[in-house]
Amino acid sequence: MRASSPPPDPEQIPGTTQRPPDFFPAPTGSSPAPPRPDEPSVATVKQLIETIAIPRLSLSVEREAGKVSSRTVHYDGDTCRIGAHSSNDLVLTDPAVSRFHCRLVLEDTGWRVRDWSSSNGTKLDGVRIRDADLVGDATLGLGDSIVRVRAVAPAEEELIPMVPAFGQLAGTSLPMRKLFGLLEKIARSDINVLIEGESGTGKELVANEIVQRSLRADAPFVVVDCGAITPSLVESELFGHVRGSFTGADRDRIGAFEAADGGTVFLDEVGELALDLQPKLLRAIEALEIRRVGDARTRTVNVRVVGATNRDLEREVNRGRFREDLYFRLAVMAVRVPPLRERLEDLMILIRVFLQALGAPEEERLFTPEILAEMSCHDWPGNVRELRNYVERTVVLQKAGPTLRRASGAPPGGASPAGVSAPFKIAKDAAVDAFERSYLAALLEAAGNNMSKAARMAGMDRMHLHRLVQKHGLRGGGVPGVLGTDR
Ligand SMILES: Nc1ncnc2c1ncn2[C@@H]1O[C@H](COP(=O)(O)OP(=O)(O)OP(=O)(O)O)[C@@H](O)[C@H]1O
Ligand SMILES: [Mg+2]
Repeated sequence: MRASSPPPDPEQIPGTTQRPPDFFPAPTGSSPAPPRPDEPSVATVKQLIETIAIPRLSLSVEREAGKVSSRTVHYDGDTCRIGAHSSNDLVLTDPAVSRFHCRLVLEDTGWRVRDWSSSNGTKLDGVRIRDADLVGDATLGLGDSIVRVRAVAPAEEELIPMVPAFGQLAGTSLPMRKLFGLLEKIARSDINVLIEGESGTGKELVANEIVQRSLRADAPFVVVDCGAITPSLVESELFGHVRGSFTGADRDRIGAFEAADGGTVFLDEVGELALDLQPKLLRAIEALEIRRVGDARTRTVNVRVVGATNRDLEREVNRGRFREDLYFRLAVMAVRVPPLRERLEDLMILIRVFLQALGAPEEERLFTPEILAEMSCHDWPGNVRELRNYVERTVVLQKAGPTLRRASGAPPGGASPAGVSAPFKIAKDAAVDAFERSYLAALLEAAGNNMSKAARMAGMDRMHLHRLVQKHGLRGGGVPGVLGTDR
């Protein structure tokens, strides 16, 4: 593997960003600073490690594809994937079982079983379910197979780093510390990584930390927001074009893969990529070969691909919207960034980080125990981005407002959430904000979460809509009670 210097004068590619040195501004004050390469890594500082038991499930396959079976496997971890594809934790050889059929997920309240948009559904003790608690000995019916599941005593332990941050990613909760341990391991490898998580969970920060610690850290890092580019231009953005290849192509232009040669391409919102383009991306990743639009010759490139998505790509594969072969090329390693509601212990440290960044650490006084208790009851559909906005609003208004659970209850253009005690501009901005959120949530629901359709319905430019949806953290994880959740 080689890491070449950035091209001398890379052309600006619309929809892509050549990383400037301050791509992510350094946190101010005493915010957690990224570890230097000569610092001991989180994996080597023994005194900063906690040992926790790894949960264990016993899975007995009693019937497989209609035939009696008696194999038992043990699964150690907190997300057990079951399906016909060989990458699952429990593989069922049954044509009636989907590739990624269902998941057993350990939550605070115990194990749950979730159907993963399978074709034939999942049954729990004979009843078809989408998402249900697993209590005691449970019998799962998948296709023509039956699996008996029960939680058993843990057999292994895991070492979890006790660190408050990983570069710019703050968090002391167990899910975040587990994530930091994983990122530490994969950062120095050269494999392709897929970062999955709801909107606003910090996927872009994760991508940045991976790249900054990789062997390609000093090589080009090109960001392509696949969800924000007009579909007809995506191919040209990724692979470039030659003059005259389409209307408006008045000169040759290199694409993101060539601009990133020797370095990394970050494909943000890669789940939005149209099916007809996916074989071309697969070829670029697999053969490291690209062809500019309208060009006869192929060119070789040397890039690492980091992708991010707020869709669940295994579900998209089941639904036929994402190619399985491309998924596995992108997700050589899949990293899930947990939603904020699964790590509410991180609220305080994140509040401090945002107050530091605002240069207002003393305003921590606004976050009284009562306010923190209320914040802990909120489900944060917009995740860390929503929390950052909330902290900023609280500092501006000098008062912590209600953490609105969702937007649909607030009538568009209704009373200002800030009330008359706030200055007019702030009150107006808050009202416009509430209107945007409410309108977009209803629009996306009406359009079945299809961005192109939503843009048409609203008479808006798709890119503008995309930006607004990102700003309000409305897509992907969905807003409970407003949007159909996709995860
Ligand atoms: N663990 C964290 N510590 C500090 N700041 C965070 C953390 N996670 C997210 N943020 C901040 O929250 C905001 C949203 O993060 P980011 O853009 O990385 O989310 P995302 O998952 O890429 O969202 P989207 O799916 O909408 O693109 C950013 O301002 C980021 O700096
Ligand atoms: Mg992002």
